[in-house]
Amino acid sequence: MAVDHSAFKKELAALRAHRADLSMDMREAFAADSGRFSHFSAGDGDLLLDWSKCAVDARAMTMLEGLASAADLEGRRAAMFAGRHINVTEDRAVLHTALRDLDRKGLVVDGQHVNDDVRAVLDAMAAFAETVRSGKAVGATGKKITDVVNIGIGGSDLGPVMATLALAPYHDGPRTHFVSNIDGAHIHDTLKGLSAETTLFIIASKTFTTVETMTNAATARKWVEKALGSDAVGKHFAAVSTALDLVAKFGIGKDRVFGFWDWVGGRYSVWGAIGLPVMMAVGPNNFRAFLGGAHEMDEHFRTASLMKNLPVLLGLIGFWHRAVCDYPARAVIPYDQRLLRLPAYLQQLDMESNGKSVTLDGGVPLTPTGPLVWGEPGTNGQHAFFQLLHQGTDVIPIEFMAAAVGHEPGLKHHHDLLLANCVAQSQALMKGRTLEEAREQMLAKGMKEDDVARIAPHRVFSGNRPSITILYRKLDPRTLGRLIALYEHRVFVEGTLYNINSFDQWGVELGKELATSLLPVVEGKQDAAGRDASTAGLVQHIHHLRGA
Ligand code: F6P
Repeated sequence: MAVDHSAFKKELAALRAHRADLSMDMREAFAADSGRFSHFSAGDGDLLLDWSKCAVDARAMTMLEGLASAADLEGRRAAMFAGRHINVTEDRAVLHTALRDLDRKGLVVDGQHVNDDVRAVLDAMAAFAETVRSGKAVGATGKKITDVVNIGIGGSDLGPVMATLALAPYHDGPRTHFVSNIDGAHIHDTLKGLSAETTLFIIASKTFTTVETMTNAATARKWVEKALGSDAVGKHFAAVSTALDLVAKFGIGKDRVFGFWDWVGGRYSVWGAIGLPVMMAVGPNNFRAFLGGAHEMDEHFRTASLMKNLPVLLGLIGFWHRAVCDYPARAVIPYDQRLLRLPAYLQQLDMESNGKSVTLDGGVPLTPTGPLVWGEPGTNGQHAFFQLLHQGTDVIPIEFMAAAVGHEPGLKHHHDLLLANCVAQSQALMKGRTLEEAREQMLAKGMKEDDVARIAPHRVFSGNRPSITILYRKLDPRTLGRLIALYEHRVFVEGTLYNINSFDQWGVELGKELATSLLPVVEGKQDAAGRDASTAGLVQHIHHLRGA
C-alpha cells in the first residue's frame, strides 16, 4: 500500500480534534477504569512497556493506529528489511538489522551478498578480539595488551561507550577507553595513565575523514612512535571503516581492518565492526548475545500486530506527545546507573534521525518533527532537574526504565530503593498534589494557618504529567540488544509518521564546513575580513586572550 496523504491529513485532524475534546485527567481515568494498566501496557517476553500514565484513551490509540496505516508503516517497514533504498537522499538501503540477523541467507542488495559479508566480518572481529583478549596478539615489545583505546566520534563512539558501560558486569577483557572530542584534553587525559607498550588503538570512522577522529588518530600514532618507534605502529593500531583505501594509507595492516557498508548509518553501527571495543571488553559470546537480543526485537517489530508491537506503540505515543500534544522534548531517565550514556546515545539516534524540516517528497512536514531528547540516570536526576519536571511550566513526557533485578545480589536493598523511587516518580507526575491536599498535610504537621495559606500554593503539583515506564528483568547483553533495537525502530516509526527521511544527517554538514574555513583565521594565518561582525569579534577576542 502506498502512503495516502489525504487520508493521513484527515485522520491527523480528527486526532487533534479528539485530543482537544479529551481534556483527560489521568487520576480520573485510573479511578474509572481498574483495567487501565492492562489496557495501556504491552509486553514481549520479560520486556514491559507501560504507557497507562499517558493521557490517551482507547479511541486515541485506535486513531493513532489508523495514522500508522495511512502512513503505510507496514509497507515502509517491509521495504527497510528487504534492503530497498529508503534512504532516498543518499540513495542507500538501510540494513542495520542485517548485522544481527546471523542465520539469514541469501539477502542480496545492490549485488552484495549481505549475510555472507556480515558473518565474515563478525568472525574476523571475533578472531582478532580473542587474540587480543588471550594475550596472543602482543604489542611491539612482546607485552600483552591491557588497554584498548577507541578513537571515534558520534556513531563511532556513542554506541560502543554506551554498551561497554552497560555491560560492565560482563567485562573480562582489556580495559577500554574512548576518545572522541577534538579537545586535546580528551586524548591527553586518556593517555596519561597508559603505557604505549600495552595499548591498542582502534580508529573507528565510517568515512575515515572525520576531523576529530583523524586528528586524535594522528596524535595517538605520534605517541606510539615516540615511545616505541615507527615500526611499532602496526602492532598497536586497528581500524573500523567503510573507507578501506584511506585506512591503508594510514598504515594499518589489512588483517586489522574491519569493514562495514554504506547501508549502515553511523548511529546504527554498534552492531557491526564499530562494536569491536565492546567485543574486546565482554567477549564474542556476549557480543553475539547482544546481537541476538536485537534480532529478537527486529522479529517482534517485523511480525507483531501494530497494537501489540512495542516499537510501534512507543512510536505512536511519541508521535502523540510531539505532534498532537505539541510537547517539545522528552526525557529518558534510566534507573540503571550502567545506562549512564544511554541518553547521549539516544540523543544521536533520535535527534540526528528525526531532527528534519523537509518531508520525503521535499515538502513541509504537517506536524512538528523529532523532539529534543535528553536525560540522566535516576535517582541522580531527581536531585537536579526533576523540580522542573514536576512543577515547571512545560510538560515534558518522561521515559523511565529499570531492571527488576540488579547485578549485585548483596546490594538488593539499594535496588529496592532504586525501584521504589522509579515507580514513585511516575506516580507523583501522574497524581500530583492539590491545594487542599497540600493544606491538609501542612495543618496536620501543626503549621500555623497564615503560613499554610502563604506556602501551600508552592507545594501544589499539577499532576496529570505523562510518563512511560519500560521494565526488564536484568540488564544483560540480550536485554540491552532488545532495548536499543526497540528505540531504533521507535525512531523509524516516528520518522514514518513525520514522513521524513530518518537516515541522512545533512544538518551536521554546515558547521563542519565553516569550521574548516575558520581554522586559518583562528590560527592567525588569515584575517577575519568578510566574516560577520560577531564571528570576527569572537576570533579577535580569542587572539587577544592568547596575547597574540
Ligand atoms: O556527526 C555526523 C556524523 O556523520 C555521524 O552521523 C557519525 O556517526 C559521525 O559523524 C562520525 O562519522 P565517522 O564514523 O565517519 O567518523
